[in-house]
Amino acid sequence: MKKTKIAVFCSGGGTNLQALLDAEKSGAIESGKICLVLANNSSAYALERAKNAGVPTAVVTRRQTGSQEAFEAEILRLLQEYGIELIVLAGFMSILSENFTSKYPKRIINIHPSLIPSFCGKGFYGLHVHEAALAYGVKVTGATVHFVNEIPDGGQIILQKAVKVHKGDTPEKLQRRVMEQAEWKILPAACEKVAREIAIKGEKYEHIQNQ
Ligand code: GAR
Repeated sequence: MKKTKIAVFCSGGGTNLQALLDAEKSGAIESGKICLVLANNSSAYALERAKNAGVPTAVVTRRQTGSQEAFEAEILRLLQEYGIELIVLAGFMSILSENFTSKYPKRIINIHPSLIPSFCGKGFYGLHVHEAALAYGVKVTGATVHFVNEIPDGGQIILQKAVKVHKGDTPEKLQRRVMEQAEWKILPAACEKVAREIAIKGEKYEHIQNQ
């Protein structure tokens, strides 16, 4: 079966990207191939991780492009150039407009570091999510992979995993536990699941075309 072409969008450290690259290498992701890593800032360490794995990289910044429209137009151009069929937001700290998300229905997935619908939506990203969870006093948190639509963190849920909050947790300690126990497991698993569904659909389409 033809592999689904994947682009991973990042903004920072890229530990989730690393989990995806490792999963592809080990064969845990077998239905897709990571063909492009895109960052919205040139200092994202994720870019180094991609280079180390031999994956092409691109940097598109909001500041360089000047407007949200131009920023997204440049990203769309790159996606077409690489023939991308699935976009994985792995710590991508920029909200994409409806104009963009509507072009890839059920073709964009995102990892969020809480159990949606808790601690999600505008303003809930990175460490802030864990600060909010600790401030609320929840005993269980976790991570969610979901499809991306026009509502921030509002698309259909694909996978979730719960993680216990420990006494004396700091946002940093909790973030690390959520990454280790949930994010780095469910993101590659969801990526394989969706890549496989897209690959199967493509195969059926080609079959019909050839009849
Ligand atoms: C991860 O915890 C991810 O879930 C979160 O940012 C971190 C990125 O880490 N994403 C969001 O908060 C999106 N709303 P990474 O760069 O090491 O993968």
